[in-house]
Amino acid sequence: MGGSGKKITVVGAGKYGSATVQRLAGWDIADEVVMTDIVEGLPQGLALDMNQSRPVEGYRTRVVGANDYAATAGSDAAVITAGLPRKPGMSRMDLLAVNARIVRQVTEALVEHSPDVTIIVVTNPLDQMTRLASDVSGLPRHRVMGQAGILDSSRFAHFIAERLGADILEVEALTLGSHGETMVPAPSQCSVAGAPLTELLSPEEIGALVERTREGGAEIVGLLKTGSAYYAPSSAAAAMARAVLEDQRRVMPVCAWLTGEYGISGVYLGVPARLGAGGVEEVVELPLTEQEQADLHDAAEAVAAKVSELDGLAR
Ligand code: APR
Repeated sequence: MGGSGKKITVVGAGKYGSATVQRLAGWDIADEVVMTDIVEGLPQGLALDMNQSRPVEGYRTRVVGANDYAATAGSDAAVITAGLPRKPGMSRMDLLAVNARIVRQVTEALVEHSPDVTIIVVTNPLDQMTRLASDVSGLPRHRVMGQAGILDSSRFAHFIAERLGADILEVEALTLGSHGETMVPAPSQCSVAGAPLTELLSPEEIGALVERTREGGAEIVGLLKTGSAYYAPSSAAAAMARAVLEDQRRVMPVCAWLTGEYGISGVYLGVPARLGAGGVEEVVELPLTEQEQADLHDAAEAVAAKVSELDGLAR
């Protein structure tokens, strides 16, 4: 939509970043989508290529590739994908240190040029990177969030649909907590064509789908051999940016700052949140089962412990 006056920045022109840019541009909801990367020529070349698909696809949004942040000035929303994937021989802590340096630097640069931006973090390790971006940005907590729940929920929905031979668009699935070990599936909130999942599958059958969802990213990495998933991840990140840009006030599972909701405070955790122009407008409290509620508390403790690892990092 030429003339919407809206601008989005995506930091990192790798697989995840470029796929996110392409989805956002194709929706025609912004005047510009700016893509930055440290690699010279990469964002510019991708931008040129994407822009040349506009006449065929029929949208007007311009993609701008840049290596510095001047081009990002005045962004309404930004998605941070910059970071390194884990390399052989690299420990989790090594990755944490490297990506923390990158996320710190890009967040500072982003906010300097876009003081009113809403930031969506996808760089791993997600829980720590979201907290770090929030701390470094100086923005209100509700303007910084992380992407985990939409992706895990849609992976869960996919596995449920495949298992039951159901229409994917009739499956409602929800995961809370965060990625990996701290993922908290919420079967009580899942349904297929309106029927509760818990009446369609046994706890063991649901457990098997949950396990595959938990390992969903690793399964794809194992098949690809190099790199990680980016089609479904970019759908999730782009949907969040869109909700902010269009002030949709839609509820989606995101990594949001908790201030007492679900009895949890002072931690970024995957919960259903209403996203709009102000970022996280509200954390929605669903009627979880006692077990789900207990699992969410365990996840909050695990995330808080992981976040404390940030304190030991050199800047
Ligand atoms: N500023 C901007 N871009 C950077 C910086 C930086 N300081 N440092 C690295 N990058 C860029 C790289 O040049 C690369 O183009 O980030 C990009 C990362 O792209 P990929 O290696 O293709 O990784 P991708 O699959 O896109 O994943 C990005 O998302 O899901 C997570 O674990 C994943 O943390 C990783 C992130």
